[in-house]
Formats: sequence, C-alpha cells, structure tokens
Amino acid sequence: MYILGLTGSIAMGKSTVLGMFRDCGLPVFDADEEVRTLLRESAHLKRLLQGPFAKAFDGKEINRARLADLAFENEKKLRQLENTIHPIVMKHMHRFIEHHRKKKAPLIVLDIPLLFETGAADVCNGTVVVSAPEEMQKKRALQRPNITGERLAMILGRQLPDQEKRSRADFILSTGTSLEQTKRAVEALVKHLKKRPKRSG
Ligand SMILES: Nc1ncnc2c1ncn2[C@@H]1O[C@H](COP(=O)(O)OP(=O)(O)OP(=O)(O)O)[C@@H](O)[C@H]1O
Ligand SMILES: [Mg+2]
Repeated sequence: MYILGLTGSIAMGKSTVLGMFRDCGLPVFDADEEVRTLLRESAHLKRLLQGPFAKAFDGKEINRARLADLAFENEKKLRQLENTIHPIVMKHMHRFIEHHRKKKAPLIVLDIPLLFETGAADVCNGTVVVSAPEEMQKKRALQRPNITGERLAMILGRQLPDQEKRSRADFILSTGTSLEQTKRAVEALVKHLKKRPKRSG
C-alpha cells in the first residue's frame, strides 16, 4: 500500500484537492475533519480541555470559535491546544492506515496540515504539496470567517514556508490554476502512483 501525505500552507487548497483524490475513488484521511469530530464527540478530549480551555465550553459542548479565540491569545495556548489534540488525531490516523492496509488498498491519501512540522511525513511513502502564489493564498485565507491579518501571520509563522515545503515534497500540485487543471493533475498523479511496481509492505 502506498501512503501519500498531502500538505500545503493555509488556504493553499488541501481540502479541495483531497476531495479530488476522493473523487478518484481513493480512501482519504482528513486531519482537520478528524479534529472537528473529536471536539464534538470525544469525551476524552473534552476532559483534557476542560481545565485549560474552560471558557470554550457551553455546558458539555465545545464552541469552536471561542476555542480558537482562546488558543490564538498567545503562542503558549496554541501549542497547548495542539499538543493535546495532536496525539489523538495521530492515533486515529494510524487506525485508518491499518484498516486500509488490511483491506489491501493500493493507495491512500492523508491530508495533514503540519505534515513535515510534526514528523507525520515519516509514515508516508511519498508526499505531495499543494501550492499557489502567495498573494492568491492570502486572498483565499482572508476570505474565511474568523481570520484576521494578525491570526494569519501567527499561523504562517508556525508553518514551514511554502518554498521549504515544495523543496521537501516528492510531488507538487499547482492550485494557482483553474480547478479543472488541478483536477487533471491529480488524476495524472493517481495514475502514476498506481502504476508503481509492487513492493512489500
Ligand atoms: N485550482 C485550485 N485548486 C484548489 N483550490 C482552488 C483552486 N482554484 C480555486 N481554489 C479555491 O481555493 C480555496 C482553497 O481552500 P481549501 O479549503 O481547499 O484550502 P485548505 O488548504 O484546505 O485550507 P486550510 O488551511 O484552511 O485547511 C477554495 O475556495 C477553492 O475553491
Ligand atoms: Mg483544509
């Protein structure tokens, strides 16, 4: 089974491209979606957050916007939140990998925003980075609700620069082009990876 790690800086198009891989019929793991599910459903995670992020709770429910406000107050809080969530997401990712390994899937895709920064790339057989010109990225990011220029700077400051990601990745998909062009590039990459000679493991 070939594990393809998909990454890219904020708003570069990871989720959009992951959807394209899904449309090609591949099993995909979406780390951000996993976080959203955990925040909604995991009693374990809620217990861990109850102390340090008490103000984010409405009774038993976590208000995500408020949690983000608290986390973005300072670097320490943000790191604390990430360090709490990250190991749980990694556990679920490994479960996903093992599930598909047993099912003998030839190719799976993991969308991990901090793929290189957290070392998650080590479990992948190859990596692909989505990348668009910086101005386009900023424009896309600032269109999101809850994103200010200050917050964007904080997020970008904690990610490897786009250039560095591109130099580390095995493949680069341009998302500065039309969606159709990106889709064709995704299909070509899938075809290429499926043609690889079979290896054990
Ligand atoms: N060729 C393209 N490929 C990918 N996305 C594109 C392209 N052209 C335009 N877009 C738009 O760019 C935006 C990318 O947003 P998306 O949520 O996919 O990024 P992301 O990297 O997952 O963001 P985040 O870091 O917040 O998770 C979408 O609105 C998408 O429609
Ligand atoms: Mg995304």
